[in-house]
Amino acid sequence: MRSVPFFNYPALFTSQETEFQRIFSDVGRRGAFIKQKDLEDFEKCLASFLGIRHALGVGNATDALEVALLAAGVKAGDEVILSSHTMLATAIAIHFAGAKPIPVECGPDHLIDPTAVEAAVTPHTRAIMPTQLNGRTCDMGALGRIADKHGLIIVEDAAQALGSRYKGHCSGTFGAAAAISFYPAKVLGCLGDGGAVVTNDTGIYGHASELCNFGRNAAGDVVQWGFNSRLDNLHAAMLHFQLDKYAQVMCRRRQLAAHYTERLNDVAQVVLPPAPDSDPDHFDIYQNYEIEAEKRDELKQHLKDRGIGTLIQWGGQAVHHLKALGFTQHLPYTDYLFTRMLMLPINMSLSDDDVDYVCTNVRAFYGYTQ
Ligand SMILES: Cc1ncc(COP(=O)(O)O)c(C=O)c1O
Repeated sequence: MRSVPFFNYPALFTSQETEFQRIFSDVGRRGAFIKQKDLEDFEKCLASFLGIRHALGVGNATDALEVALLAAGVKAGDEVILSSHTMLATAIAIHFAGAKPIPVECGPDHLIDPTAVEAAVTPHTRAIMPTQLNGRTCDMGALGRIADKHGLIIVEDAAQALGSRYKGHCSGTFGAAAAISFYPAKVLGCLGDGGAVVTNDTGIYGHASELCNFGRNAAGDVVQWGFNSRLDNLHAAMLHFQLDKYAQVMCRRRQLAAHYTERLNDVAQVVLPPAPDSDPDHFDIYQNYEIEAEKRDELKQHLKDRGIGTLIQWGGQAVHHLKALGFTQHLPYTDYLFTRMLMLPINMSLSDDDVDYVCTNVRAFYGYTQ
């Protein structure tokens, strides 16, 4: 039986082993571990890739989100609106920045619903934190108008969306600041934790740099309370190597998504993500391929029995489901979506034959002959 794991972690290393070993020796022999030139070079390259002024490497995207909020001026007593269909990390960052996370509904595109955002605005609302989920950018036009109307800032959770674009602009460049994740399974992943804060605002960049480096400014003077969250120099060097060939990676993922569309488009029991280029406003990078499926749990088991790994995002729990954290919202559309959504494998280890195998088995489950 063919095996199609949801994500092939060893392959992240073995597919680039020679280059990684070379980088490891080079960085190691220079003893260049913390805040060295490789990090600086990667930050410049990342900023230039996004078309943004500043990028700051930090320990992970959860830290990046918290730092971005703090540096953008979010404070205790503020409310921050987020989609309930996001990683818990988005809510955690808001909480530890001192503010109150307000989860709202997502729409049929699985991204935050601008109408729900507008309805959730109160006199305490300070920010909107849209998650650019699954490698697709939210409707930033609508969110921008709501932010302008109510005097709110936008801090993007672009952890899943490095390189995705809306109307030609990259995720991460729309608001006051944004966070990117380099968790291993991300489209640009390192061999551990890593993240970045990106911003066009030099003041926010300076504040964020100090926060992440024990509150020290560029001269080394302690100017505020801070903590320690830095992207390792070794990881930065490995990420830089991968960023240089990122265009090919995005292209391959889009090919895989197109292949899924071609093979599954006629299956009435599933709803697929939009195909690449089906909407001129969006350029998607397919961090995930999240479908909706009738009899979702049975389909998942059927695929598992045939060696195919799938995943239900966030372990099947939306943010508002986390009652232990005090959430009381009633979000029926998100509840409905969470009974149907399933991520099929999409990653650089996947061959066209693997996609065919997955699709053949999805089709067979619903009684479609080839
Ligand atoms: C939408 C979203 N936000 C935040 C995070 C947190 O990223 P990190 O693991 O780098 O802290 C993730 C990671 O999975 C994510 O998918």
